[in-house]
Amino acid sequence: MALLIRNLSQIATPAGSAPKRGKKLRELVVHEQSVIVIRDGRFAFIGRESDIGDSLRATLIEDFDARGATAVPGFVDSHTHIPFAGFRESEFNRRLQGETYSEIAASGGGIASTVRATRAASEEELCGNVVARARMMARYGTTTTEAKSGYGLNLEDELKQLRAIRAATETSPVRLIPMCLAAHEFPPEDRSAAWVERIIDEILPRVAEEKLAVFCDVFVEKGVFTREQGDAILRAGARLGMTPRMHADELSDTDGASLAASLDAASADHLMHISDSGIAALAASNTVANLLPATSFFLMSDRYAPARKLIEAGAIVSLSTDCNPGSSMTESMQTAMQLATLQMKMTVEESLTAATLNGAHSLRMANEIGSIEVGKRADIVLLDAPNYLHLVYHFGVNLVRAVMRDGQFVAA
Ligand code: NIG
Ligand code: FE
Repeated sequence: MALLIRNLSQIATPAGSAPKRGKKLRELVVHEQSVIVIRDGRFAFIGRESDIGDSLRATLIEDFDARGATAVPGFVDSHTHIPFAGFRESEFNRRLQGETYSEIAASGGGIASTVRATRAASEEELCGNVVARARMMARYGTTTTEAKSGYGLNLEDELKQLRAIRAATETSPVRLIPMCLAAHEFPPEDRSAAWVERIIDEILPRVAEEKLAVFCDVFVEKGVFTREQGDAILRAGARLGMTPRMHADELSDTDGASLAASLDAASADHLMHISDSGIAALAASNTVANLLPATSFFLMSDRYAPARKLIEAGAIVSLSTDCNPGSSMTESMQTAMQLATLQMKMTVEESLTAATLNGAHSLRMANEIGSIEVGKRADIVLLDAPNYLHLVYHFGVNLVRAVMRDGQFVAA
């Protein structure tokens, strides 16, 4: 039985299932005076109401008045750290008084403080936190999100985070794609290289055995994991069936982007310090440059990833929130798009494609989600706006009027 969404002022979407590069990133399909028909959780028709075929028309049983809303694809947030406990608002306040993120980390705060809180939380509590964050995400238009571990930093607590994500899929309004980031940091109690061996020999095999993660990630950074360690961990994950992704060139240039490309990683993320050779390596690869401008903004840095250079070189660019309690406490993909446009000089069209189809590609889901097209899953955001330009033009507010995932309303 089918649902008809009528009275839309506009439908704006990237097209197809292939990732967009270069000028194609800004090529949206815009339907005016059109309707959407959803059947069995998928888009069944997009176009003029009078063009709906008779057999489909015969199955229409429900009618939804969009009251002039603009429809865009559900946002795909392909980089978050949502299974965490506790907040770090007092560290944030210290940063506002002039202390830096690194100084706070060196004094025992930072990732280590979230590790303490996350270890102390039960799996049920973490599951509740994931669902609560997913509800907030849905209210802001996200229908699919990656969710990673990385605040457990021992076997049991990494597994606990990943099991919490699995348990949350039952009630989460947002589709959750799990990833293991045991290599987020070294455990505060033992910063020796033995941790790398434990990840490779114990944690990743266990994660694979319990089928708890689709992807595997490493934070390659000065003072954290070296390129060699990152390479070894990601290869071990890949052997166990987990596709690599990488926190790369975030706080310094470690040539992480080139390493990610050489491993055929699904994405290289952050990239605030990427070099020209790193840009060329990503452009020549299928590895998505996943940009997280809310992190630069929240860390009060002037340094944003070179989005224009990446796009012009031909890299596949996506956008995500990096939602985490330390460096980007937001669930809003609208905010990520606004910062991408106003700070990284992406166009609104580029931002929308990066926040939908290209993110879906990096999660290996672009055949199913990321655009409003017949056959894809009916993940859709109805915006209280006459056209898609308002996504950035009308900034700092929540434009979402309603959100559907798989054809069901998940937020309104
Ligand atoms: O993506 N790069 C490291 N990890 C996070 C920050 C995590 C935290 O501060 O808790 C990031 O920015
Ligand atoms: Fe991150």
